[in-house]
Amino acid sequence: MSKNEVSEGAALWHGRFDAAPADELMAYTESLSFDKRLWADDILGSKAHVSMLVSVGILTEADGAVILSALDAVAQEFASGKFVYEPSDEDIHTAIERRVTQIAGEPGGRIHTGRSRNDQVATAVRLWCKREVAVVASHVLALVNTLEERALEADAATPPTRLPGYTHVQHAQPVLLSHHLRAHSWALLRDVDRFADTLQRLDVSPLGAGALAGSSLPLNPQTSATSMGFASTFANSLDAVSDRDFIAEILFDIALLGVHLSRIGEEWVLWTSAEFGFAVLDDAYATGSSMLPQKKNADIAELARGKAGRLIGNLTGLLVMLKGLPLAYNRDLQEDKEPLFDSVDQVRRALIALNGMIATATFNTKNMIAGADAQALVATDLAEWLVQRGTPFRDAHAVVGKVVRDSIATGTPMVTLVEAHPAFGPDAASLFDAGVAVDRRQTPGAAGPLAAAEQRARLVEAIRSAEARLA
Ligand code: ARG
Repeated sequence: MSKNEVSEGAALWHGRFDAAPADELMAYTESLSFDKRLWADDILGSKAHVSMLVSVGILTEADGAVILSALDAVAQEFASGKFVYEPSDEDIHTAIERRVTQIAGEPGGRIHTGRSRNDQVATAVRLWCKREVAVVASHVLALVNTLEERALEADAATPPTRLPGYTHVQHAQPVLLSHHLRAHSWALLRDVDRFADTLQRLDVSPLGAGALAGSSLPLNPQTSATSMGFASTFANSLDAVSDRDFIAEILFDIALLGVHLSRIGEEWVLWTSAEFGFAVLDDAYATGSSMLPQKKNADIAELARGKAGRLIGNLTGLLVMLKGLPLAYNRDLQEDKEPLFDSVDQVRRALIALNGMIATATFNTKNMIAGADAQALVATDLAEWLVQRGTPFRDAHAVVGKVVRDSIATGTPMVTLVEAHPAFGPDAASLFDAGVAVDRRQTPGAAGPLAAAEQRARLVEAIRSAEARLA
């Protein structure tokens, strides 16, 4: 067997070993089962590496051309589902090098010149993240756009849809439905912003760092970085191969996004309950019960809530894995991929499903408005009405509190008590008129219709700038 050939069935690193790897070792240490999905990124990185080797004269043009065309052939095999793995393939990177060498012959044995799997893996994962994180962020924006469509529709209704605003899950003050929906949009836009920040920071090529210390060959990391589309290249080879901060950041960004989706999910579980009756899910986005024929469940919303635990777990697991690692590469780092892939997959599905659920649901505006117009929700307006006529707020609070207490004790509507109350006079009763309490919330960022126009303008601008950051 020539030194340049990979012996049939042996690991790429077999040279210094007397015995073949034990099956148990391969079974335990392989990552092919989950890093297969990096094939396109590995090939992109490998092509950049080979072209760089040619450009600095380490590979001849002819050898470079043979390897590049073998890489294209391998890409073709993956794309058409015809790539055949061998038992010796530990991971996607060794599988591709093995196959390139089978196709290219002797020049194939030169592909790994000046490269280690350590910088190769880090490069492929960063390339994968650049593409997939942008996709997740675009799904977040799609959900924001759906929420905004529903908000516009709620404001265009006559009257604009209002519902009770809650604190402690107790009726607090009426708010526009658009205001409530937009509250979630602002949180989601911060998520997009975080993804964009993360994308900016991870846009650094580690290729050329080698196993840990760079190379004695005249590599040019900038050349390969540029051809892969990275904004910059590493400054320290040890950092380049051991840095997984970008994965930790992505997992945090997704965990927090997952928390936001969980809170949205929890609300929809409440809103679709008989007790709230604020929304009805489209049949296509609801589930039934195997035993209870009448059931219509909000399983998408529940899973958006439930899966947040797993997203937080993925972040926690990665941080714990990283915390004890000395420089530079350690095999522990292979454990970065499953949580990354899982979080990205899960949150993408959650975003798509919630988007469909929210886009197709019907709001029960009658119930929302009835809840918003409950007399107790006017209490703060009554107190502020007294404040505007000179009463200290604390005294006004006590006066209205007494009205609430008397209303509960006697069953007399608050409006009747207010009409008869010496502190108020006849006009205060108009605060109980339908929609007045929400209309009076006019301060910047407040829950009423006047402030809504300004908020809408700011939101549209924020969506536009988020889209621009991702483009
Ligand atoms: N599959 C491994 C990973 O994903 C490849 C790196 C192995 N490197 C090594 N020096 N053993 O991290």
